[in-house]
Amino acid sequence: MTFEKKEYLDELFDFLKIPSISADPNYKNDVKKAANWIAEKLLDAGCEKVQIEKTKGHPIVYGENFISKTLPTILVYGHYDVQPPDPINLWKSPPFEPVIRKTKIHPEGAIFARGSCDDKGQLYMHVKAFQILKNSNSLKCNVKFLFEGEEEVGSENLESYVNNFKEKLKSDIIIISDTGIGSLEEPKITVGLRGLSYMELTIMGPNRDLHSGLYGGSVANPINILNKIITSLHDKDNKIKIPGFYKDVIELSEKEREKIIFSESDEKNFKKSLDINLTHGELKYNTDERRSIRPTLDVNGIWGGYIGEGSKTVIPSTAHAKISMRLVPNQNWKEISAMFKKHIESIAPKSVKIKVMTHHGGEPYLMPINNPGYLAAEKAYAESFGIKPQPKRDGGSIPIVPMFEKILGSKTVLMGFGFDSDAIHSPNEHFGVKNFYKGIETIILFYKNFCK
Ligand code: BES
Ligand code: MN
Ligand code: MN
Repeated sequence: MTFEKKEYLDELFDFLKIPSISADPNYKNDVKKAANWIAEKLLDAGCEKVQIEKTKGHPIVYGENFISKTLPTILVYGHYDVQPPDPINLWKSPPFEPVIRKTKIHPEGAIFARGSCDDKGQLYMHVKAFQILKNSNSLKCNVKFLFEGEEEVGSENLESYVNNFKEKLKSDIIIISDTGIGSLEEPKITVGLRGLSYMELTIMGPNRDLHSGLYGGSVANPINILNKIITSLHDKDNKIKIPGFYKDVIELSEKEREKIIFSESDEKNFKKSLDINLTHGELKYNTDERRSIRPTLDVNGIWGGYIGEGSKTVIPSTAHAKISMRLVPNQNWKEISAMFKKHIESIAPKSVKIKVMTHHGGEPYLMPINNPGYLAAEKAYAESFGIKPQPKRDGGSIPIVPMFEKILGSKTVLMGFGFDSDAIHSPNEHFGVKNFYKGIETIILFYKNFCK
């Protein structure tokens, strides 16, 4: 059976043309349009009941195809919102005008558009897989769909929705395609996600911007102070210096660590792909470990003072930074956020006032490789790619996954099909055409393996 239907791509193109940017209120209507579009497609695919649920933010699309109480139930989650496309001038083609271009790593072509990989393209594979199963009378389980429009901004309204509709959302397994596969030759299945704690730090100095000649040297400069604070958060081995930060981190055994191989040529290719001379990170861990099993602290944005044309001799009144930490099992994001706040408050000099604010966060996640859902996925990948997939821990976060486990008691199989090089969140995001078709095929095989 072939899954390589051009009409699937044409439909996906229509979806990608809708700029469903959840972070920007100017696009509220487009986010709604994307919700309506995908709800319509679920109906077209044969899903019997489809609801568009209003929330305080963007809508949630829920679909249900019930066959029998005696059959297992699969819950499919995906997000139809996307990241803002900027810096827009770095896109080779406009972010919401999808085109297919060949690349070295995608010789059969890749779809270039914001959301192609994260996550509209991957979400749409599930709609098509369901449609194919249903139309060929091969669907042997109940299916529930849960598509949200706020994943890229923290899934706050989805959390309350899940809390309110525990019974309705019950399932035997949850499947999500919103991660990577490594490569098509040696596919990997994600079994771990990092958690996240996202903070904002404001340093307040004098009540107005000051002449740096008249006042310079006599009052604390908030940007200088902010820099000192940020610099002090890592030691010379790049360990994070917040007291207690590592206390709950589960250290892997030497044997487990040996499986996380990053060869010299991997390191070389990694550096080449990013145009950097040297990698950087926690002492005694390889690049792959630093990106998956270790917690991190990074400044995501920093601003203050004069950044316009030319120069202005000024001591700024305030300085700001957005700082996020990636967390690993068994760190708790609220505890880490509190630790961060307490630490910053304790080291800030009395010459400034500070404000530490928590944005959002989420817990880390682990999937055991003896879980029936994992085993069904492992078999599905083996069948469609001709080689047994290896488990892999990922560096990104999907906070709703540990939330599903906590609230609904269900585990999630992360059936991702993107490549790390697909530039999600960056300019020129893309998703391989072959990855898309292979994804549909593998999801169908998952249903067949799980629902018998
Ligand atoms: N799909 C990504 C997460 C991801 C990508 C995990 C690749 C593993 C591999 C998701 O849309 C995302 O971007 N998550 C955010 C967190 C969210 C709270 C904004 C992230 O990881 O920064
Ligand atoms: Mn995503
Ligand atoms: Mn994302």
